[in-house]
Amino acid sequence: MERVYITGASGFLGRYLLKYAPKKYRILGQYRQHPLRLTQGHVQVTRQDLAADEWAPLWQFSPQAIIHTAAQASIDACQLHPQEAWEVNYRVTCKLVDLAKRIGARFLFLSSDVIFDGQKGNYQEDDPPAPLNVYAETKVAAEKYILDHHPDAVVIRPALFYGQSLNGRPSFTEVIYKNLKSGKSVYLFTDQFRTPVLVNNLATALWELVASDYRGILHIGGSQKVSRYEMGLILCDVFNLPRNLIIPIPSDQANQAAPRPRDCSLNIERARSVLKTRLLDVKSGLNLAFH
Ligand SMILES: NC(=O)c1ccc[n+]([C@@H]2O[C@H](COP(=O)([O-])OP(=O)(O)OC[C@H]3O[C@@H](n4cnc5c(N)ncnc54)[C@H](OP(=O)(O)O)[C@@H]3O)[C@@H](O)[C@H]2O)c1
Repeated sequence: MERVYITGASGFLGRYLLKYAPKKYRILGQYRQHPLRLTQGHVQVTRQDLAADEWAPLWQFSPQAIIHTAAQASIDACQLHPQEAWEVNYRVTCKLVDLAKRIGARFLFLSSDVIFDGQKGNYQEDDPPAPLNVYAETKVAAEKYILDHHPDAVVIRPALFYGQSLNGRPSFTEVIYKNLKSGKSVYLFTDQFRTPVLVNNLATALWELVASDYRGILHIGGSQKVSRYEMGLILCDVFNLPRNLIIPIPSDQANQAAPRPRDCSLNIERARSVLKTRLLDVKSGLNLAFH
């Protein structure tokens, strides 16, 4: 039976990777601050601070594949604490890639759609990255290190992901839903565009990639380009909530710490040809996730 090590198993995506993990694999899921309590027989968990170089459980487990999701994933936190961002998102990733190569493990890395400057949209895998913020800079540097040092690696660039959180920390869609349900207005940007992907779809796509021999960069987004405002309106329709509670605003009113790309929508033609997982539009995704 093959062994797969998952970093960030307590995160939004990590929990879905555990949920959809094929039974044929033995899994070691790593967490740091948020303990995992699991009942799945083929999944073990380990508490490790990767920034503190706690690598012993990984050596002992000796996996055939590593899915590296752990990161400082908050774009604004990276901007405010750049040293920590470089430590977790870049240095830890380089160390993990070197270890993966030494033990002969396939390596799957979660990068991001925000590595582009957002001037053009519909980005393909060979479009040049142009980071606008610290988070994106750390991801681009990590991508380069991986592709230069590990021949059996996949750099996945997911779009913004959404869905029902399994880790007790509400997702972006759940925060909007909760506010609307209690009659509160929600302010959403009209001028930043993404191709959001349902987290369930992303997790099953990643398991397909573990089993495949795909190498290099792969864009994984949903099939629809939307602003957060448009996404909010779709959510209202799906849950039969009042559309007038969604207030459109331009992003420069929000006072965010890090600059964001205007349009980092992804071209997903390659993913469609490589994967069996159907990458859904937002309405279908919300229906699948919440009904
Ligand atoms: N969310 C999105 O829409 C999105 C979009 C594009 C790309 N991505 C990328 O996709 C990946 C997963 O995102 P996510 O939203 O699932 O992230 P998340 O929910 O914030 O989870 C981050 C995970 O990283 C772990 N972690 C952080 N620092 C660590 C450290 N020093 N040592 C060990 N573990 C550490 C956390 O563990 P504890 O919580 O237990 O401390 C947690 O399990 C990230 O690489 C992110 O950059 C996310």
